[in-house]
Amino acid sequence: MTFMSIDPKYIRIFSIIAHIDHGKSTLADCIISKTDTLSDREMQSQVLDTMDIERERGITIKSQAVQCIYNAADGNTYHYYIIDTPGHVDFTYEVSRALAACDGAILVVDAAQGVESQTIANMYLALDNELEILPVVNKIDLPAARPEEVAEEIEEILGIDATDVIPISAKNQINIDSILESIHKLVPPPKADRSAPLKALIFDAKFESYRGVIVYVRVYDGEIKKGTKIRMFNAASVYEVTGVGVFTPNEKAVDALQAGMVGFITASIKSLDDVLIGDTLMSPENPITEAMPGFKPIRQMVFCGLYPSEGDDYENLKVALEKLKLNDCSISFEPDTSQALGFGFRCGFLGLLHSDVIQERLEREFNLDLVATAPSVVYRVKMTTGEMLEIDNPSKLPEANKYDYLEEPYVSLGLFLPKEYIGNVMDLCEKKRATYVDMKYLDKTRVILNYEMPLSEMIIDFFDRLKSCTQGYASLEYDFIGYRRGKLVKMEIAISGDPVDAFTMIVPKENAFYRGRELVEKLKDLIPKQMFEVPIQAVIGSRAIARVTISALRKNVLAKCYGGDITRKKKLLQKQKKGKKRMKMIGRVEVPQEAFLAVLKVKD
Ligand code: GTP
Repeated sequence: MTFMSIDPKYIRIFSIIAHIDHGKSTLADCIISKTDTLSDREMQSQVLDTMDIERERGITIKSQAVQCIYNAADGNTYHYYIIDTPGHVDFTYEVSRALAACDGAILVVDAAQGVESQTIANMYLALDNELEILPVVNKIDLPAARPEEVAEEIEEILGIDATDVIPISAKNQINIDSILESIHKLVPPPKADRSAPLKALIFDAKFESYRGVIVYVRVYDGEIKKGTKIRMFNAASVYEVTGVGVFTPNEKAVDALQAGMVGFITASIKSLDDVLIGDTLMSPENPITEAMPGFKPIRQMVFCGLYPSEGDDYENLKVALEKLKLNDCSISFEPDTSQALGFGFRCGFLGLLHSDVIQERLEREFNLDLVATAPSVVYRVKMTTGEMLEIDNPSKLPEANKYDYLEEPYVSLGLFLPKEYIGNVMDLCEKKRATYVDMKYLDKTRVILNYEMPLSEMIIDFFDRLKSCTQGYASLEYDFIGYRRGKLVKMEIAISGDPVDAFTMIVPKENAFYRGRELVEKLKDLIPKQMFEVPIQAVIGSRAIARVTISALRKNVLAKCYGGDITRKKKLLQKQKKGKKRMKMIGRVEVPQEAFLAVLKVKD
């Protein structure tokens, strides 16, 4: 165990914020490798992104806090703590809790792309937290780099002096020293009183089966050591600390986490549910009177049903979800049964990407085959009794005569794009029931379009269509703004005459007819022919608004090997069985996974 008490005036705590792919993780790697943190052998690219999926998709999800030791030009040794943050819109919540633990932020902007939606969204989060901002323009090595112009953009849009912007290449390690020097000059040292009663902010936590919960903290006052008694401001339980340490980025035990330091503690805490991220740790003997300002509560925006394709995997799915939840308190799930899909779970996510990542982890890490239903938002239902219900599953919507109206969640949307695509994007937004708010020019060539839009329209296929109608040049940010009344109806899909709950959706009345027709057409393509005719109908109330029929299969696969050799027959059956994975029997009809997501493919 090592210990070197360091004066808070030589500590700096900051974060790196950027639009996705502008080079945040590369810069973090660079800072880590340029400081006295890891040996080269330990250094692998993007050390901060630990999860496989993060690495594959190149997105940073869970925030981490790394201690780097920097010998500055002024002869002093500084301890820098870098708190890593995710860059994707779905994870704004994690960004805000990481930023709450910082005093400064390096704002990275790509020298070719310029300021993008998340640059602005993240900068506002940083300003909300009163952070000192250190702007850098990255990727100046690129042939398309236009660092001066981008610095001007930063000045114009973000109000930061262009002359303060540092041009760098994180990949080629150009000008990293000037960042390292600017950090200690610009970011203020932590305000820390080591003789005051303990006050520490919990900004993240993860679970390990051996040690229990590992709590990430920034200590503001006092200190925490092994044996220190602690409790959270908003909970009564008292724990005894079993270990403290810092991340370098590997865990390194230390004697004490003193005021001004960022690291982790363990205290035999059994469950993540016992730890409220954003809460303040204090001493039960010497409690503080005021907690640190908390964070925004988590809001799950997207819900879908997850069902095992093999019924007997239900328990495994439950265990897997419980395990994932241990480390990601932003997922929610509860048992759910569907007539069509059997036993499964209704799960809530921060956004679509979050939902994708979790589904992928369930399949990959827990070896599960899942059937997922189309994503839905949470609707509010004003019942005739006056009561307001919330439903996250369209099939649970009460009969139309039992409620007065429905409300749906809306988001404000900021779309960043080159001006030549304005027309395309406006068309798209109109189709998505969005209301135009305004348009601003970012510079001569790019604009921000602001809209308000039902969230349900965004979670269908908005991202993909935005990308395709702007050749990938547009980016967006969104923020929940509240509920609004909508003219919405429940649409059911009946297969062979029976409504299938997993297909039920809530759609805008004005285009229900069209969506119904498109959807049944899609299903006709997706559901394989059976031995008999299969009618598919879209139904509103008791009225069928669209109908198709899948004709019967003519030949039996086994007919060919009638009388033939038995191993061949077996092989054929085996092959069929494999193909049947992710198929669900609905009545007598086999329905593939893609069919449940067909609604995502419906054009307007
Ligand atoms: P997320 O973690 O997904 O938010 O992205 P990020 O902002 O951390 O970006 P990351 O560091 O993963 O970099 C994105 C891509 O840009 C990678 O392919 C990097 O190799 C590349 N990149 C980063 N810095 C530079 C640079 O200075 N020059 C060039 N040419 N490429 C760079």
